[in-house]
Amino acid sequence: MPDTNLRNLTLDEAVKAAEAEHTRANPQSATRFEEACRAMPGGNTRTVLHYSPFPLTIARAEGSRLEDIDGHRYTDYLGEYTAGLYGHSHPVIMKAIREALEGGISFGAPNRWEAALAQLMCERFPSLDLVRFTNSGTESNMMAVVSARAATGREKVMVFNGGYHGGVLSFAGGGSPINAPFAFVLATYNDLEGTRTLIEQNATALAAVLIEPMMGGGGGIAARPEFLRMLRETTEKHGIVLIFDEVMTSRLSAGGLQARLGIVPDLTTFGKYLGGGMSFGAFGGREDLLARFDPRRPDAWSHAGTFNNNVLTMAAGIAGLTQLFTPEAAERLNASGDLLRQRLNEAGRKAGVPLQCSGIGSIMAIHWQSRAVERPSDTADTPAGARTLFHLGMLQRGFYLARRGFISLSLVLDERDHERFVAAVEDYLETTRPVLQATLS
Ligand SMILES: Cc1ncc(COP(=O)(O)O)c(C=O)c1O
Repeated sequence: MPDTNLRNLTLDEAVKAAEAEHTRANPQSATRFEEACRAMPGGNTRTVLHYSPFPLTIARAEGSRLEDIDGHRYTDYLGEYTAGLYGHSHPVIMKAIREALEGGISFGAPNRWEAALAQLMCERFPSLDLVRFTNSGTESNMMAVVSARAATGREKVMVFNGGYHGGVLSFAGGGSPINAPFAFVLATYNDLEGTRTLIEQNATALAAVLIEPMMGGGGGIAARPEFLRMLRETTEKHGIVLIFDEVMTSRLSAGGLQARLGIVPDLTTFGKYLGGGMSFGAFGGREDLLARFDPRRPDAWSHAGTFNNNVLTMAAGIAGLTQLFTPEAAERLNASGDLLRQRLNEAGRKAGVPLQCSGIGSIMAIHWQSRAVERPSDTADTPAGARTLFHLGMLQRGFYLARRGFISLSLVLDERDHERFVAAVEDYLETTRPVLQATLS
C-alpha cells in the first residue's frame, strides 16, 4: 500500500500501515532478519542499525547507490554515519587498498604508510602536534580520557547530557548501564553559565571535559561558539584537559570544526572517514601529553592495539585525504550541505509542517518540531512515530537515511541527487501533511 493511503489516519495507525508495507515489500530482508535473531540478540551486532519492523539487508553498494537483497535500489543519504565520505568502492580508494593488499598485510612491524597519514593529519588539524592510531572512535575517546586522567592525576570527566562518544561513552538520557565506569560529571550542552559553575565547583577533581563541538549523532546540534570559548578558557584556567570529539565533525572543514571555529582543544579524537572507509580511530593533540606515549621514555605510557597501524586503513586514509577530500572538496561539500539544509527547511515551511533541519555543512538531522533545538532534551516531546513514518516513507521513495533523521553527505552525491531528495521530501510532506499537522507542534 503506497503511503498516499495514509491520509486521515492517526500517527500510530499511519506507522502501522507503513510498517506493514515495509514487511510486504521486503520478504528477503524479513527472512534474513529472522535467521539472524537465532545467533545474535535481536539479529543485531551494532545497535544503531536496528529499526522497526526490521532493517533492510544491503547486498551491494557502489558510488552513492545501495541495493538491498530484495533488489530495491536506494540513494545513500546516510553515508555510513559520516564514515562513508568517499561513497562506496571509490576507484581511488579501491586502488590504494588493492596496492596495499598486494604487498601483504599485518606485518607485526611499522609500515611505510602510518607516519604519512599521521603527518597529513598533523598538518590539517590545528590541535595536533602528535597523533596515535586506534581501531575505532570509541577506543580513541577512551584513550583520550585515560590519558587526561593519568596526566592530571584527577578522577572526574565532564560530559554532556545526550552526548555520544562511543558504545561505552553514551549519554543519551543521562548515561548507560554499560558505560565505562569513570566518575562522570553530567553538564547541559550549550548551557554556558550552568556549565561554567559546574566546572568551577569540580575544578580540582576534573581531569577532562569531553565534548563534540557539534553533536552529530545527538541530532546535528551545533555548540554555540561562545559556549566552546568559555570551555576553552575555564579548562585552561584550571589545568583541565579539553577534549574535542571530532570523530564526525572533522569533515566540517579541511581542519575540522576546530579550524572553522578557531578554538584549539588540548586533545582531539577522530574516526570514521579518515581511514578511507576502513576501521579507524585516532587521538592526538598537545606535544607534552602525547609525548608520554614515546616508548623511548623510561616513564612511557604503553598504548597497545594489534591493528592500530593496519596497512589497509592507513593506505586508504592517505589516498582519501590527498586525492579526494582536498581542502577545496571539503569547502564544496559543506557548502552543498548548507544549501540542502536550507531547501529542506523551506520545504517544511511551504508544506506548513514543523520540520526543522539542523546541523552544519555535510552533517544534518531532521527534527519534527518548530521549537529550536539547542540540546538533545529539546526533542524529547517529539513522538517517535514521526521519525518512523518519515524514515519508512523515504525508504519507499528510494532514499536511505537513519531512523532518527540523521543524514551525512558523501563526495559522490551531486546536485541532481539533492534535487530528487528534496522532491521526495516534498512529496512525503504533501502526502502525510494531515497526519503530521494533527500530531506535531
Ligand atoms: C561523535 C562520535 N564519537 C565516537 C564515536 C564512536 O566511534 P566508533 O563507532 O568508531 O567506535 C561515534 C560513532 O558514531 C561518534 O559519532
